[in-house]
Amino acid sequence: METQSIATTPFDGQRPGTSGLRKKVKVFQQPHYLENFVQAIFDTQPDLAGGALVVGGDGRYFNREAIQIILRMAAANGVRKILVGRGGILSTPAVSCLIRKYQTQGGIVLSASHNPGGPDEDFGIKFNAANGGPAPESVTDAMHARTCSIERYLTLATAPIDLDRLGTLQLGETDVEIIDPVSDYADLMESLFDFNAIHQLFNSGAFSMRFDAMHAVTGPYAVEILENRLGAAPGTVMNAIAREDFGGGHPDPNLAHAQELVALTQGGDGLDFGAASDGDGDRNMILGKNFFVTPSDSLAVLAANAHQTPGYSAGIRGIARSMPTSQAANRVADFLGVECFETPTGWKFFGNLLDAGRITLCGEESFGTGSDHLREKDGLWAVLFWLNLLAVRQQSVAAIVTEHWRRFGRNFYTRHDYEGVDLAGAEGLMDHLRILLADLPGTRLGDQSVSYADDFAYTDPIDGSHSEHQGIRIGFESGARIIYRLSGTGTEGATLRVYLEYFEPDPACHQQDTQEAMQPLILIARELAQIETRIVRDAPDVIT
Ligand code: G1P
Ligand code: ZN
Repeated sequence: METQSIATTPFDGQRPGTSGLRKKVKVFQQPHYLENFVQAIFDTQPDLAGGALVVGGDGRYFNREAIQIILRMAAANGVRKILVGRGGILSTPAVSCLIRKYQTQGGIVLSASHNPGGPDEDFGIKFNAANGGPAPESVTDAMHARTCSIERYLTLATAPIDLDRLGTLQLGETDVEIIDPVSDYADLMESLFDFNAIHQLFNSGAFSMRFDAMHAVTGPYAVEILENRLGAAPGTVMNAIAREDFGGGHPDPNLAHAQELVALTQGGDGLDFGAASDGDGDRNMILGKNFFVTPSDSLAVLAANAHQTPGYSAGIRGIARSMPTSQAANRVADFLGVECFETPTGWKFFGNLLDAGRITLCGEESFGTGSDHLREKDGLWAVLFWLNLLAVRQQSVAAIVTEHWRRFGRNFYTRHDYEGVDLAGAEGLMDHLRILLADLPGTRLGDQSVSYADDFAYTDPIDGSHSEHQGIRIGFESGARIIYRLSGTGTEGATLRVYLEYFEPDPACHQQDTQEAMQPLILIARELAQIETRIVRDAPDVIT
């Protein structure tokens, strides 16, 4: 089979964002578009030639076509062995697991995470490095630079291969092994959590739950782990069949998009536990009966209780949270006497800290939690962690969280998103805030005194790399914070995210409604940024 060198010219805008290159499917379907980006991966990652690579995606529309293109190009670029999930399916955490377990030189994940799928929706591609984590900025910058000067890509002239049959086949000189997408990942979960205790909980007759796979990639993973290995009743996993368009839904596990599940947990006969994951399986949402656990609280609760699970029985070494994530985890870290790092948004910033053994747990407010077991956030891992805690503590979700607040105080938290707004207006709003920053410390806004205000910058403590303009951060003397950021994952216009946090030490005030309790801070945030006039919106599109 002969290698073909195909002439091509650069496309604008192939710069990976918070989590890889994300565009509309139609953009990816343009001749050479995907090929250029994939060739930029091979041109900047010389270890892949002669090495091994994991390839898989969340099964969204265009997944199979993209995988065929990537396999032919990987073979033409001299990759020795490729591991591919059957049907082209691998969740993002499973890719990370496989890279580490089989020590490959990297992996390619095809997904646009929680963004909708289908011919008119989103697609994405991301390269994960040999540690199993998203490529750091230095690597994605190099890939982008390569896409700007690309003149050719390499491929093989060959028919599509059968992705649905397990086993090894040859593509030119390359071994392509089609593997079961679930088993290695499920084995890893079994090594971390007390499956016997969870099994007993499921069979106690006193516990009801559903896991909502949202017609996305976690369907087969959750059925195997929860129903087959842990003995949950068939049907515990809802929306379990993965579909190319996620059943027309928005595979984002939050209160706005997982309403079917939320409703099942409400009322007098609501479920004891509800959980969901996103398109590619790395996000999680945790619900108890009439109770929503914010992702920030979830990270703090897992950190405070990690010693109660087999995988973390020796305790944790440190915690990291993304900058907009609430400071609840800091309080736990202080109590445990371990370090707590504040990193820019995006999982890639946790990688060095995990590799260096400085942290065990990490998380983001955007429904992402994970640990050093791999190098991605991990939806089902978080769900199993919670199940392990419920099983050993024999308490409800609400009881565990309210007890946590009593111990550490409560960090009320909400995020307001203004989606698809005018890019120039959104950038103008951020510029306006940047101009205000220097004069804010010491002033009063509403009933709050500003203690610091900055444009968040981060220097990685391990490799010294520096990242600027990671969001506007305004901290108040009370411990409250307002943060403004523009999304780095959207595919149309701009999305403004406003993150609000306020600390309440008094348990008598812990049961208030979040939006009500935070109303004064919400008003400060709207006025300070001149949201109504600058982006012409009088209310957020999504509140989480
Ligand atoms: C969003 C989240 C961020 C997460 C990323 C990928 O990015 O806010 O925490 O890492 O998705 O799942 P954003 O759109 O805010 O740049
Ligand atoms: Zn995701």
